[in-house]
Amino acid sequence: MKPVLAVTRRLPDAVAKRAAESYDIRTQEDDDPLTRAEILALCHGADAALVSVGDPIDAEFFDHLSDSVKIVATFSVGTDHIDLAAAKKKGVIIGNTPGVLTDATADIAWLLILGAARRASEGEAEVRNATWSSWRPTHLMGTQVTGKKLGIVGMGRIGQAVARRARGFDMDIHYYNRRQLPADQEMGATYHDSIEGLLPHCDFLSLHCPSTPETRGMVNTDFISKLPDGAIIVNTARGDVVNDKDLIAALKSGKLTAAGLDVFAGEPNIEPAYRDLANTFLLPHLGSATVETRNAMGFRALDNIDAFVAGKDVPFTV
Ligand code: DGY
Repeated sequence: MKPVLAVTRRLPDAVAKRAAESYDIRTQEDDDPLTRAEILALCHGADAALVSVGDPIDAEFFDHLSDSVKIVATFSVGTDHIDLAAAKKKGVIIGNTPGVLTDATADIAWLLILGAARRASEGEAEVRNATWSSWRPTHLMGTQVTGKKLGIVGMGRIGQAVARRARGFDMDIHYYNRRQLPADQEMGATYHDSIEGLLPHCDFLSLHCPSTPETRGMVNTDFISKLPDGAIIVNTARGDVVNDKDLIAALKSGKLTAAGLDVFAGEPNIEPAYRDLANTFLLPHLGSATVETRNAMGFRALDNIDAFVAGKDVPFTV
């Protein structure tokens, strides 16, 4: 008999095929967000669970989780939807998928930089709505990216990949990280040992830090006031790193030229004011959404579960 794997969301075809070869899959018919109670019901008597970003894997979940489930693998690198302390208390191993999202997420950060700078949402809307009247010298003028200063908060794998792409745009790269990178990885970027020190050097600011008690709400009015007037912020990290009200106020006042956002606090129920602003370029958390990357993430999640079931060390745990 195959071990039972509870799966909360539809998997990419190649991942679903591999999962079905090794496990008896218990999942939902549709691809809807499940409540805690629904996920617990799927997990009842299962051997392992494969969950996703946004699933409520909180303390209450672990309080009621079937004792049969000893590993919860998440189809993500981020684990902010999981109460890690509660998992530890219950003796449940948490697996995640680091290392395979780098290029896809850096590409989306660049889509946001260019989309926000070049007013892509407004331009695309004109073409789609047939409101494009003519070519004219002042039509939807945006901000030049080439040659500007790019600030990166969090110079891990993704931050470094964003910086590599920025070199193709002749950008002057500045970064804040907990530790300075060795020169061969820094590749000419300027290190700042505090975020306050970094901010005045950012025509563009790209966020690549996890959501932690220290970073939650970090991008607030005080933070934004230290950026040059007219700066552009992009976020592919986690939505709650930003204080939405403060960011929206800065976008309305003109302190910031634009923002490109792929992640939102409380997503998909985002702060509605973002939708009404012309100077936002908004995506629905697509950072890792390529077939190649989602397959790699799924395979990594299955590697974690396979190892656990085989009594081996789980390769990617938090
Ligand atoms: C993750 O893996 O945490 C990403 O946010 C998914 O795109």
